[in-house]
Amino acid sequence: MNKTEQYENLLPQVQSVMDSTADIIANMANMAAMLHETFGFWWTGFYRVIGNELVLGPFQGPLACTRIAYGRGVCGTAWKERRTVVVPDVEQFPGHIACSAASRSEIVVPVVRDGEITAVLDIDSVRLDTFDQTDAEFLNRMVEML
Ligand code: SME
Repeated sequence: MNKTEQYENLLPQVQSVMDSTADIIANMANMAAMLHETFGFWWTGFYRVIGNELVLGPFQGPLACTRIAYGRGVCGTAWKERRTVVVPDVEQFPGHIACSAASRSEIVVPVVRDGEITAVLDIDSVRLDTFDQTDAEFLNRMVEML
């Protein structure tokens, strides 16, 4: 299966486990788990907007930094610029926050509710240039399910 087919399979599965009556953290936790297991990423998880910073939420993978300031790192940039950020090589991204030295490429997708960014989905890979427009499109569709 190519990446598009993997996402097309995964999307309805994720949709079927999203529970509109549950806490959003429960849904974030299952979404992170399903993405992480399907693609074998290095780190897959959420940072939630709490006050003026991003705070670590549900994730799969090694431990991560707990707080990220507005505009800092890839996550804070996606929040500030209100856009999906694809980083083919983290060493080329000024201000990248290295939670893990093994991370080589990254994608961060804002989670929007009622026009406000409430969280970001952050995924790290140990390989360079893992993420592209396909990931951006499918991940944006996925976080709309939250
Ligand atoms: N690299 C991110 C920090 C979070 S960790 O990758 C899990 C960043 O630069 O915002």
